[in-house]
Amino acid sequence: MAPLTRSRAAEGGVPTPLMAEYYAQRVSAGLIIAEATQICAEGQGYEGTPGIYTGPQIAGWELLTHAVHTCGGRIFLQLWHVGRISHTSLQPGGRAPVAPSALRAKAQTFIGGRYVDVSEPRALEGNEIPEIVEAYVLATRNALWAGFDGVEVHAANGYLIDQFLRDGSNMRTDEYGGSIENRARFLAEIVQGVIAEAGEDRVGVRIAPVSAVNDAHDSQPEKLFTHVVEVLDRLKPAYLHVIEGQTEGPRDFDPSFDFAALRKQFHGTYIANNGYTVELAAESIAAGTADLVAFGRPFIANPDLVERFRAHAPLGSTDATTLYGGGAKGYTDYPALSDTRCHVTSGIA
Ligand SMILES: Cc1cc2nc3c(=O)[nH]c(=O)nc-3n(C[C@H](O)[C@H](O)[C@H](O)COP(=O)(O)O)c2cc1C
Repeated sequence: MAPLTRSRAAEGGVPTPLMAEYYAQRVSAGLIIAEATQICAEGQGYEGTPGIYTGPQIAGWELLTHAVHTCGGRIFLQLWHVGRISHTSLQPGGRAPVAPSALRAKAQTFIGGRYVDVSEPRALEGNEIPEIVEAYVLATRNALWAGFDGVEVHAANGYLIDQFLRDGSNMRTDEYGGSIENRARFLAEIVQGVIAEAGEDRVGVRIAPVSAVNDAHDSQPEKLFTHVVEVLDRLKPAYLHVIEGQTEGPRDFDPSFDFAALRKQFHGTYIANNGYTVELAAESIAAGTADLVAFGRPFIANPDLVERFRAHAPLGSTDATTLYGGGAKGYTDYPALSDTRCHVTSGIA
């Protein structure tokens, strides 16, 4: 199950028993990658997203991982810093969001139930960068403490790490900007630190090489991501999770980009994602272009997606109005084909 932001955390970014119920309903995924979760207060860019840097947040996650494990599932946490994809109203002290460079993204965020333009960011000082790397390491420690089986570093979709990677958002002149090697340094330091904390086999990395979501763009994506994957292959995370094409958009968004070559370059597990049907997933695995396939949107309305695939059963449709925020409606009330699901709510409520 691919990470899906649903914006239902309680005040202070605290995960709730309802979130535990939602994930426990989806354990037949095999591996769940839980929604993007901010590693520090400045890392938040949307209302209602959870964090992994305070005691109450860790306690909330502990209930949730316990529910998932009790039901036989496995769950990683996606570690997130949004960088410039934020709004002053979500930042500590109403300050400007941080970014590699003071360039405002042509993007929107979700606040007060509606979309608003993101705020103008300020460029991070060189001495602030190691503090953010350290925040990823602490978030990893907290995630493992809370019972997660591992963590996924979110380096996709135009958020902070992706902002460092791409020359459309990184104009730095220090060792974190300029050449491709320099722009990949921030990601490399984070993955190295996170692996030192959790071990190679408990760390994954997610990238979206050609996705333009959140105003992400680079003049040479193929060259950039060839280097990124070379670096990651040396650091040896358990898996590389790749959004192929435009996130939630066409898979052939940039047909010149060779994902098969990228897959060959990485010697660990390659998880493919974006617009896969069960048929395409089976074909890709048979052809060796992926080791695993992650499904995102189909899991929203189909808690028992795997059973439905097995039974060739029709898939339920998603209510677009309940994707972000709100309660149980459009979250935990999508029915399964047969009610064989694990019930854990009484134990965790
Ligand atoms: C409601 C929603 C929330 C999402 N939240 C995240 C997220 O938190 N982190 C992330 O990396 N991708 C996120 N994505 C992207 C999905 O993980 C996935 O890459 C995308 O939906 C394409 O896969 P699919 O065609 O199987 O849905 C989100 C997508 C949707 C529809």
